[in-house]
Amino acid sequence: MEMSKRGQWGSNFGFLMASIGSAIGLGNLWAFPYKMGKTGGFAFLIVYLILVVLVGSVLMLGEFALGRKTGKGVGAYAALSRKYSFVGYMAVISPFLILSFYSVLGGMVLRYCLGFLVQLFGVDGFSGQGSDFFSWLLYDGSSMILFFAIFMVCTMVVVMGGIKGGIEKFSKTVMPALGVILVIIIVFVALQPGAIEGYKFMFVPDMSLFSTPESFFNVLKTASGQVFFSLSLAMGINITFGSYLDKQKSLQRNATIVPLSDTLFALLAGMMILPACAAFDVDYAQGPGLLFASMQKVFLDGMGGFTGNLMGFLFYFLVFIAAITSSIALLEVCTASVVDRQLDKGKEPNRKKIALVFAVLIFLIGIPVALDALGSGDAVVKAPYELLGIAKDSAGFAMWNDCWLDFYDMISEGILMPLGALCMSIILGWLLPNLVKDECEESGHTFKGAGFLKVCFRFIIPVVMVIVLYTQITSFFNL
Ligand code: TRP
Repeated sequence: MEMSKRGQWGSNFGFLMASIGSAIGLGNLWAFPYKMGKTGGFAFLIVYLILVVLVGSVLMLGEFALGRKTGKGVGAYAALSRKYSFVGYMAVISPFLILSFYSVLGGMVLRYCLGFLVQLFGVDGFSGQGSDFFSWLLYDGSSMILFFAIFMVCTMVVVMGGIKGGIEKFSKTVMPALGVILVIIIVFVALQPGAIEGYKFMFVPDMSLFSTPESFFNVLKTASGQVFFSLSLAMGINITFGSYLDKQKSLQRNATIVPLSDTLFALLAGMMILPACAAFDVDYAQGPGLLFASMQKVFLDGMGGFTGNLMGFLFYFLVFIAAITSSIALLEVCTASVVDRQLDKGKEPNRKKIALVFAVLIFLIGIPVALDALGSGDAVVKAPYELLGIAKDSAGFAMWNDCWLDFYDMISEGILMPLGALCMSIILGWLLPNLVKDECEESGHTFKGAGFLKVCFRFIIPVVMVIVLYTQITSFFNL
């Protein structure tokens, strides 16, 4: 059958590790804590957790089922019916945009990793800036571009050569190691005076953000974008992974374990970074630079000396690995979409060339992200709010214009993913209501929670997506 030609997972464990490896990345370690810091701690956490259960895990199950049923990646929608193929196209634009800023950040992670490495040998790795290095690096355009390019090349080389042997095996060992390092840092941070404020910010119920509809919707849209980003939803990757899964495996079990592990890692990252901000006096709400600003203080000022340099090096090395296991999957979605199309047309695709073209395009659109100093102002490239001559919104509501990163993020996380999820939930809830159930039952497991899934696909997901889109569009046009 066609299935075997495309390949299958060796075991369910391999599938799980690949899915968890692609899910856990900068989304958990970098985005979750900063979004929580920017949008208001506990309120964000609660909305996030509810959305993971009602939207995230349900959509993931839907994607696994779609992939396994059709045996296709993003082409799954077209395989169901020609009129659904546009959903597949939307699923390719998001990883394209996300990868551009993902790689800029990955490059910064590499720069920090290198900095700590040379410090281990007694050489100053942070240009004399110490814990203020972050704001200095942002304006150092040549390093930003250089490390961005290195990260992009690493990603491209892996995708050109295929993923299976090396990186997949590698991530099986380093992901647990990342967990261990996280826990060590969490314990260290917890022992610092003042850290307790960070936990209060995360866990003490503060409902004041729910008091006005505007701030509630802001939390909702940010949390929902984060669920998509972190669980790699609406980007074809889960469909593709599902298509390599044989019929014996339980889809429902997998669609529970992956979101659970991903959420656990996000929580750990929050418990590392937010208390560190409280202890070392870093502003929670500073946005995309939070991970770098806070952890630099922990390693250099808090731990200090050899220990600080060693932990700093290990930490950034593992973040780099977590990021690269995700970035290769992002580039793979783009590459595979063209490979599949050419195969359909009966052409012989040149995988290396396709990956190269995508890498170059993504690099080009990532240049403004690398050079706008994340919107700190007066950089080589102006941030969207500077170009448009509008004041930066200090309340943080219209976040899309803060910097190019936020702008790309808004198009993908803010618009294309909810729109894709809306279409998907309509297809799976109303038009083909038995698809998920039938596909899950292929494995001989009884299908649990049919009522719950039906309510989610038919009502909850569409309603949440419409609200998110509405909020996004009104804030975009400042209505
Ligand atoms: N989920 C990844 C993270 O948390 C990022 C990501 C988004 C991703 N979409 C993806 C990874 C698609 C692989 C494929 O960092």
